[in-house]
Amino acid sequence: MILAANFKTNHTRKSTRHYLERLSNFLFETSCEHDIFLFPPPLALDFFDDIGGVCVGTQNAYPAPSGAFTGEAGSEQLEELAIQTILIGHSERRGILGESQAFCAEKFRYYASLGYTIFYCIGESLEVRRAGIEATIRHNLSQLEGIDLSYPKLIIAYEPIWAIGTGVSASLEQIQETHAALKAHLSCPLLYGGSVNLSNIAEILALPEVDGALIGSASLKVEDFCQMIQKI
Ligand code: 13P
Repeated sequence: MILAANFKTNHTRKSTRHYLERLSNFLFETSCEHDIFLFPPPLALDFFDDIGGVCVGTQNAYPAPSGAFTGEAGSEQLEELAIQTILIGHSERRGILGESQAFCAEKFRYYASLGYTIFYCIGESLEVRRAGIEATIRHNLSQLEGIDLSYPKLIIAYEPIWAIGTGVSASLEQIQETHAALKAHLSCPLLYGGSVNLSNIAEILALPEVDGALIGSASLKVEDFCQMIQKI
């Protein structure tokens, strides 16, 4: 299983280190065999070479080594911190920051060319979901345009926008149906994200079509994240 925590704009560098130390100890003590990832906010990234068992990635980066892209980090800055994992296409970046599909695909191509592990997010709005399963699948597949689905370090996260941060995840039936339809087009792992928490993680990850979870709010406390790992 792949379990990833997306801190979004939460935690500082200090609290992230503290979190990572506790998480790393927990994984060691429990001989955890799952793949655990953490995406802290960009300013909380650091050279976490002393932390074992957790792969730290960036929530965002510009598709260039360096240059005139005010406010952005490029691969040169990530390289200094030995970051080799990136999240691309999150609905908050597509929606709030206006990232187009073409730009998500450009980021994908650039970071794939550098061999990064890429967590690539897709997900539909409530309006699309209400239009039915066919419209939902069509929309999600359109968010894969320009993405090389045979890239060996690709992990896709299906995160319905209407389930993110709402406390109400998609139903097991909805997750199963959507994952099954998407998996007909994919060979990479497919994670679910959207209000995954301590009470629903076990049943969601028990679905055979689900290869892991991308967790936001419920991952912010390290004790909770550890408990979720223990439940799978
Ligand atoms: P929540 O778990 O807070 O719903 O967020 C999910 C998410 O967006 C992870 O990337």
